[in-house]
Amino acid sequence: MPGSPICRVVVLVSGTGTLLQALIDASQDPSFGVEIVGVGADPDPNTARARAERAGIATFVHPLPPAADRAEWDRRLAAQVAELEPDLVVSAGFMKLVGEHFLAEFGGRMINTHPALLPSFPGMHGPRDALAYGVKVSGATVFLVDAGVDSGVILAQAAVPVLDDDSVESLHERIKLVERDLLLSTTHQLATSKWYVTDRKVHWDL
Ligand code: GRF
Repeated sequence: MPGSPICRVVVLVSGTGTLLQALIDASQDPSFGVEIVGVGADPDPNTARARAERAGIATFVHPLPPAADRAEWDRRLAAQVAELEPDLVVSAGFMKLVGEHFLAEFGGRMINTHPALLPSFPGMHGPRDALAYGVKVSGATVFLVDAGVDSGVILAQAAVPVLDDDSVESLHERIKLVERDLLLSTTHQLATSKWYVTDRKVHWDL
């Protein structure tokens, strides 16, 4: 659990896995305080899984399309992750909502990262929605996963200016640069500090 010398982490990913790669690289240094004990990835594209396999990390494929039977999907995912006995679950670009089984097991110790400054622009298209709204500053948010859509307790945020000539892609790429650092620093802090939450605020006992 938080504060223990080595924190066992399972990472869930849906995308190409650049955030996962940053976590894999950082965890090579023992002072990061994290051992990645498993990676759950979408079957296609399998870039993220290949990154984990190259690093010698156990991988598994998300059990079923969530649309098949949400409750069953959620129950199987929770069981697969539980087998790896993680202290912390990190969603690094995992584009599916976990349900009640998963949260019963891992609620309060699962974090996610979002490419916008929550509570603005939650959901699948943070950079697109922020750009369409015309904000001048967006950014990244790392938060504790709860039953809502990107609605959990905010652990850390970082701002990124929106440029006049930004496209969705250019904005998202710049956000991902700070998102990577934010995810690393927050994961490290959770793994190596004692912390607790009251009234939606995280307190670090450094
Ligand atoms: C990140 O911006 C994440 O917040 C979003 O998708 C991106 C993942 O990128 N959900 P990658 O797959 O790690 O490159």
